[in-house]
Amino acid sequence: MPKLGVNIDHVATVRQARKTNEPDPVWAAALAELGGADQITIHLREDRRHIQDRDLEVLRRTVNVPLNLECAVNDEMLAIAIANRPDQVCLVPEKREEVTTEGGLDVAGQLTSVTKAVARLSECGIAVSLFVDPCQAQIVASAKTGASIVELHTGSFAHAFRSSEMTARLEEIKRAAVQACQLSMRVDAGHGLTYSNVSLIAAIKEIHELNIGHSIVSRAVLVGMERAVREMKEILLRSSSSNGR
Ligand code: PXP
Repeated sequence: MPKLGVNIDHVATVRQARKTNEPDPVWAAALAELGGADQITIHLREDRRHIQDRDLEVLRRTVNVPLNLECAVNDEMLAIAIANRPDQVCLVPEKREEVTTEGGLDVAGQLTSVTKAVARLSECGIAVSLFVDPCQAQIVASAKTGASIVELHTGSFAHAFRSSEMTARLEEIKRAAVQACQLSMRVDAGHGLTYSNVSLIAAIKEIHELNIGHSIVSRAVLVGMERAVREMKEILLRSSSSNGR
């Protein structure tokens, strides 16, 4: 069975919608651990749209499973990663205008800068993962950087799910997983995985871990709604019974 990394970015998205202090991703991480999360994943974006620097600092001190920090390949982010020492850093491409990470890191096209980043992080004892599209050129380039892990981008598969194209995308991921294993890399995967499409990816035996965020946070909002409303009603009931209403 693959391990489950739970990405809690979108708990912070809800908090940032009001720029208040709830819901706190630190609390969400503790609950995810109670639910069996094998890893907590966060993406500190350059525009700080969801996870904040404070979240990384507090999570580093409170999370009891491995902490995986996703970040762009630039000096600011590498310095933050090195200062906070997550167990793992996943290097991802980042564009300010994108809604979410679109496409994998072009490791083949930026071999020198990615190799340098991998070396800087590795020297500090941080495991490095590269988030790449499931294509041969990127896997080969990833192995050349010295990184020990690739995370295969499952977005194209997730978008194709329910269409004839899905089988082709799934085969691509399987081929990339085998290839990365042959190059002695650990293989993770993630992006766009949901309660409906995850089982096809989870069945790939080379895959060590899946990182899943949006779908789990979405489900948490819905399965928690009834209890949240009930608890608010109880407060209303208690306060009105105290004034005789
Ligand atoms: N893996 C990586 C590298 C990502 O950038 C993301 C999105 O932040 C995920 C996994 C999780 O994707 P999703 O939120 O669609 O489950």
